[in-house]
Amino acid sequence: MSTKGYAVVTGASAGMGALFAQRLARDGHDLALVARNGAALEALAARLRADTGRSVDVVAADLASEDGLRRVEDLLRGRGDVAMLVNNAGVGSMRPLLDSDAGELTRMIALNVTALTRLTHAALPGMVARGAGTIVNVSSIVAIATEMMNGVYGASKSYVLAFTQALQHELAGKGVRVQAVLPGVTATGFWDTLGHPLARLPADWIMDAGELVDAALAGLRRGEAVTIPGLHAPERWDAHEASRRALATLFGNARPAARYR
Ligand SMILES: NC(=O)c1ccc[n+]([C@@H]2O[C@H](COP(=O)([O-])OP(=O)(O)OC[C@H]3O[C@@H](n4cnc5c(N)ncnc54)[C@H](OP(=O)(O)O)[C@@H]3O)[C@@H](O)[C@H]2O)c1
Repeated sequence: MSTKGYAVVTGASAGMGALFAQRLARDGHDLALVARNGAALEALAARLRADTGRSVDVVAADLASEDGLRRVEDLLRGRGDVAMLVNNAGVGSMRPLLDSDAGELTRMIALNVTALTRLTHAALPGMVARGAGTIVNVSSIVAIATEMMNGVYGASKSYVLAFTQALQHELAGKGVRVQAVLPGVTATGFWDTLGHPLARLPADWIMDAGELVDAALAGLRRGEAVTIPGLHAPERWDAHEASRRALATLFGNARPAARYR
């Protein structure tokens, strides 16, 4: 059976990652599913093989650990046919920084920032050499609304957005696409893991996870660099970006501004 290419999905044992995997398998991709919960990955892989006939590999790995991360880097570097990487695995926090445990913050940065960076770095050389490939980086609306949740979580998602935009610039003309997806509140187990059940949030903020993933993939097909499924007024994002890019041209001055002298 012909394939649309090998896709590696992180955080595929639950939530959005499991749905990305399902949609990509249905669309004709062979897959590698990555997360810590090997039993959940095996169950999903069996279902996807039966439903779609695709080849589905399972990699049970803790991406916040050096050993787990290395194994997935090796997979990405070792295969010559990785068409797509979905950097979806992530953890959040609602705890104020002052009440947070330093170990928990370190693990959040290790997964949300370091793992996403190193997996992208491992996948890109092959994609650039073949002149084809797609990387989907799951950020969050807290990349912009940085005051909404734990500051390290918000900053980690701002990193994902900034890193993706910098890569889009660097990779222009090389045949490789990098998309940032900024979900808002989405109905997954993420909120229970945070200890902040969805029931505490306004019902009209909560997006169905299947709709979120379908919108992210629709954004990809539309050629969007940044997809924000919950933003109904796309011209507001365009204006924000235009303002940011215009501001960025104003910083190159040898002398401090008059107000600092
Ligand atoms: N849900 C929301 O409202 C929301 C909003 C904005 C952005 N996001 C982002 O969307 C992405 C997906 O979140 P979700 O809502 O689908 O969350 P979820 O249901 O909690 O799923 C998170 C996934 O990440 C995996 N994961 C967690 N720690 C890991 C580790 N150390 N190593 C490898 N895999 C790990 C989990 O699997 P294991 O436990 O098996 O490892 C699971 O498959 C995250 O990046 C999140 O920050 C979510």
